[in-house]
Amino acid sequence: MADRAWDATLSVLLTAEQIRARIAELAREIAGAYGPDEDLHLVAILKGAFLFLGDLIRVMDRPVTIDFMAVSSYGKGTRSSGEVRMVKDLDAGLEGRNVVIVEDIVDTGLTLSYLQEILRARSPKTLRTACLLSKPSRRKVDVAVEYIGFTIEDHFVVGYGLDYAERYRNLPYIGVITGDRRPPLP
Ligand code: IMP
Ligand code: MG
Repeated sequence: MADRAWDATLSVLLTAEQIRARIAELAREIAGAYGPDEDLHLVAILKGAFLFLGDLIRVMDRPVTIDFMAVSSYGKGTRSSGEVRMVKDLDAGLEGRNVVIVEDIVDTGLTLSYLQEILRARSPKTLRTACLLSKPSRRKVDVAVEYIGFTIEDHFVVGYGLDYAERYRNLPYIGVITGDRRPPLP
């Protein structure tokens, strides 16, 4: 299934076309939840959500503003450390604003519940969350996610922003690393 030599150990879980179509639906749903003159501020979580944000806002036919926050919840591998560290804070405040957190994937839920807690403390008017992917079978904490692109099984996925040891973020599709040929960590 792989279409590039260097990702020969990947199988495709979601094609670029499936992702594109689902994001168009999500964009309509999110944009439609706020009045045309209401403020809508999207906060993307780096690095994984950068492509999702870019594709989401390009199909939103309304004014939006964006900001970025970076957190680190994993080491280089695929296991959650359970610890979340803020690496980059937002540029602007959130008081009185309609804020939507844009995240790549909710796995244990630890990262999102931490993010929601610190962003809620900044007094937004509303705070919702959009995740491209959700792995509900792995949840450790109950966390509210209003918009979910795809619910997936417990696979470690890469591509479309998601990485394994910082690689694969540039794949246009979402794949699962298969076989015993998982590349060694640098
Ligand atoms: P959580 O705190 O366990 O919910 O993990 C959320 C973060 O872990 C995401 O923002 C991703 O960066 C990373 N993550 C979780 N599952 C995967 C995966 O299957 N592939 C790549 N990154 C993942
Ligand atoms: Mg991430």
